[in-house]
Amino acid sequence: MGLEIVPTGATLGAVVTGVDLAALDAAALGEIERAWDEHAVLAFPDQHLTEAEQAAFSRRLGPLERSLTQNNVGADPEIIVLSNMRDDGTLWAAESAHGLFLEGNNYWHTDSSYKRIPSKGSALAARVVPETGGETAFADMRAAWDALDPEMQAYLEDKSAVHSYAYSQGRVGGTEALSEAEWEALPPVEHPILRRHPATGRPALYIGRHASHIAGEDKRESRALLERLCANACRPPRVFVHRWRVGDLVLWDNRCVLHRGLGHPPDQPRHMTRTTLAGDGASNEWSLTA
Ligand code: OGA
Ligand code: MN
Repeated sequence: MGLEIVPTGATLGAVVTGVDLAALDAAALGEIERAWDEHAVLAFPDQHLTEAEQAAFSRRLGPLERSLTQNNVGADPEIIVLSNMRDDGTLWAAESAHGLFLEGNNYWHTDSSYKRIPSKGSALAARVVPETGGETAFADMRAAWDALDPEMQAYLEDKSAVHSYAYSQGRVGGTEALSEAEWEALPPVEHPILRRHPATGRPALYIGRHASHIAGEDKRESRALLERLCANACRPPRVFVHRWRVGDLVLWDNRCVLHRGLGHPPDQPRHMTRTTLAGDGASNEWSLTA
């Protein structure tokens, strides 16, 4: 059976079957890249990739990015472990620093927007899934930009937001999950709020939980505006929720998609591995050169 791409019905997202990501030929890779540009989120059910296969597939889409913190890196630096399970199988408490670090993912964000060069995309694979909850939601920031009225688009089009992990994670807690040296490598950075996709040219709203306020504007007022924009953006028909099964891999475009975890009962294990595609740009200090 050939590769099949079925759109989700939301403005973003498609489910891709009839393909083995561990054994992709160049033609199938090309089809996947085209579908990714169009749908921005691709769910690949039933892949059951090893960590090495996940990293190898991801590298075919571009160089990978180093994790924010050493705490969630496995034996392979390309693999970021998002898990509430300790090595001995016991679970981290939700209110532990590690639990709060994970909890941060449950607010709308785009990966690494607090880095000087943010990530291009992420691939997340499900290895242990909870019985209830634990879904991941994705929101289409291209459609969100298109839905803004022309006055708001004109206001935002030359503005930048200040993105800060100290701001976003400070609201949740668990900041001690990072070392002092790790915090020092994360000064606030600015990114344009209007972001054009390099492949499609489509404009997208580039905001999310790491965006603290608008550069050069009143902090309180512009923060409230960013929160309103985010709340309005992340609504149907622009949202697609993926309910995980073990073996699934979902690939999303961080340049035009926000995502968040929906949370799950803290007494249930959930173990996911992520590979992160480094953003384009010369001398990206977060890029892993294998
Ligand atoms: C991520 C993330 C949310 C989730 O992997 O970057 O935010 O549902 N995950 O685990
Ligand atoms: Mn994330």
